[in-house]
Amino acid sequence: MTDFQNIHREDKAVLITGASSGIGRAMALWYGRHQPHTTLILTARSLERLTQVKDDLLALGVENIELIPLDLAKKDGPEKLFAAVKSLNVRVTSLINNAGAGVVGLFEDNDPAVIRSVIELGVVSHTLLVRLFIPDLISTGGQILQVSSSGAFQPGPYTAVYYATKAYVQSFSEALAYELKGKGVGVSILCPGAVASDFSRRAGKADVKGALTPEQVADYALPRFLKKRRLIVPGLMNRWLIRGSKLLPPQFLAKIVAGIQSKLVKQNPSQEMEARKGIDEQS
Ligand SMILES: NC(=O)c1ccc[n+]([C@@H]2O[C@H](COP(=O)([O-])OP(=O)(O)OC[C@H]3O[C@@H](n4cnc5c(N)ncnc54)[C@H](OP(=O)(O)O)[C@@H]3O)[C@@H](O)[C@H]2O)c1
Repeated sequence: MTDFQNIHREDKAVLITGASSGIGRAMALWYGRHQPHTTLILTARSLERLTQVKDDLLALGVENIELIPLDLAKKDGPEKLFAAVKSLNVRVTSLINNAGAGVVGLFEDNDPAVIRSVIELGVVSHTLLVRLFIPDLISTGGQILQVSSSGAFQPGPYTAVYYATKAYVQSFSEALAYELKGKGVGVSILCPGAVASDFSRRAGKADVKGALTPEQVADYALPRFLKKRRLIVPGLMNRWLIRGSKLLPPQFLAKIVAGIQSKLVKQNPSQEMEARKGIDEQS
């Protein structure tokens, strides 16, 4: 890890989890294009993919980039990330809590180790990262961007655990925003619909037609995050979907989601799901 004591850097840093691909990568590049003097702390498991993002940022003229490769689904993942960030000479003023992964198929067929890793990443690590960084965020008047999903507003047959993790993130973040009111910390919740990232392939699903690109999501979300907007929902259809979901009974929503998801779920689990299972069994 670089010794930053001798490097001039802004007294502000943006920490992005899940920055090696998809929405997290697109957000890092958005900062590179629009706020190149920001210090970016990027984390994900793959150092190779993080390094590619760093190279892209260097090409944009960003100077202060720190990579912290680690697995947030491991028991002490959030604490290790916090300690690694603390060892740098920066204060985190924005936490972008983005890392996430899905699990698809009939719940009774889902591998318990994969279920555990999805919950550890999507619920436990999301929550603990906020808890660990909150004193710094309060002292700096910082901001939190919680990446949820339009799936937070419906039950999700054939991807039940993933949708439930997002319902948790949604509820937790709304409560957090209430508690932090008056303490100068902004809480924004990003609810994308389908996004053409690695996410579906990794979860073992087909891509959704008409999905937004990660760049479109970042371009829409980050200016609104900087304005401290509470709920950020990219895509007109997605905004209508969320509004409608608040009016309809859960049994009806479950039927609609089941119809969509059953067409997307592939017959065989993807290689990534098998790989994730392997990683979790070793940890
Ligand atoms: N894609 C969609 O349709 C969609 C829709 C709504 C919401 N979202 C949400 O958007 C967020 C980003 O997803 P995405 O679409 O950009 O998917 P993605 O391309 O698969 O990116 C996920 C990121 O999370 C990291 N990650 C996965 N497991 C991790 C672990 N155990 N520890 C640390 N980092 C881990 C991945 O990097 P490594 O593999 O290198 O660790 C990657 O950087 C997620 O929270 C997702 O739930 C996505």
